[in-house]
Amino acid sequence: METIAVLGTGRLGTPICRRLLAAGHQVAVWNRTTSRSERLVRAGARRAASPAAAVADADTVITVLSNAIAVDTVLFGPGGAAAALRPGTCLVQMSTIGPDAVAELARRLPAEVHLVDAPVVGSVDAAQAGRLTVLAAGDPAAVDRAAPVLQALGTVRRCGALGAGSALKLVLNTALVTAMAALRDTVAVADAVGVDRSVALAALGTGPLGGAAKRATATGAWFPIALASKDINLALRHLGDRPAPVARAAARVLSAAPDQNADLSVLV
Ligand SMILES: NC(=O)c1ccc[n+]([C@@H]2O[C@H](COP(=O)([O-])OP(=O)(O)OC[C@H]3O[C@@H](n4cnc5c(N)ncnc54)[C@H](OP(=O)(O)O)[C@@H]3O)[C@@H](O)[C@H]2O)c1
Repeated sequence: METIAVLGTGRLGTPICRRLLAAGHQVAVWNRTTSRSERLVRAGARRAASPAAAVADADTVITVLSNAIAVDTVLFGPGGAAAALRPGTCLVQMSTIGPDAVAELARRLPAEVHLVDAPVVGSVDAAQAGRLTVLAAGDPAAVDRAAPVLQALGTVRRCGALGAGSALKLVLNTALVTAMAALRDTVAVADAVGVDRSVALAALGTGPLGGAAKRATATGAWFPIALASKDINLALRHLGDRPAPVARAAARVLSAAPDQNADLSVLV
């Protein structure tokens, strides 16, 4: 069993912590909003006063934070974790931040820290059930070192060199966001021609938008529009001037959504 620090106990970080505790690990938690880690402390986690204090005796550190700015702040800001990491610590970066931010992280971290690029596929329900897919990338020895811990969270899919996991995550979330936007229009057609929504969604389940129809009717997932918007915009940044009218339209659909904290399924 390992000593693990989890930095970020939000929607995804919380069930990830619970899985690690259930697997028998010693888990220290730090979250910017302290109240969000209270239930984990009651479940056996140790609350740390700062990211640095959380990681000081950790073998493995997991970051599950909103975006690259949050990761930067938690690692390199005041009380940040990076300066307190012990040589040989494995830093498993699970937030969706894109490959450029991962490369920047690798450049700034002490050389003796083993960075694993490990964004995840699956939402809160999958994290609770230990059915996430971890897109693990980096030095194979570092991925080998992290794998036994990550297996408590779901399936580890090895993606290649550092950044390859984050790159694949942007591909997958481009598919998710564009499919959900397409489903939104498809359901609008169902409304227009008088087909009941539930009939339409059930029929769509076996067609090309089957995955999106399943996601639109899922009950335990919570992937806020704001985070999906962050991801499609990361993908668009990589596309630069290349034409991608569907992805650009999907990004506009997300940014126009009135409740940015609602789950992506609200689009449909
Ligand atoms: N939810 C999903 O279905 C899902 C699925 C796959 C991947 N992801 C990715 O996983 C990551 C976490 O998602 P989530 O759903 O768990 O988000 P969340 O519930 O909003 O949690 C975000 C975490 O980041 C922290 N944070 C944000 N800004 C910060 C800052 N400037 N400094 C320090 N901490 C900061 C939050 O702290 P506070 O509690 O203080 O706000 C919270 O711990 C994101 O990158 C997301 O894209 C999410």
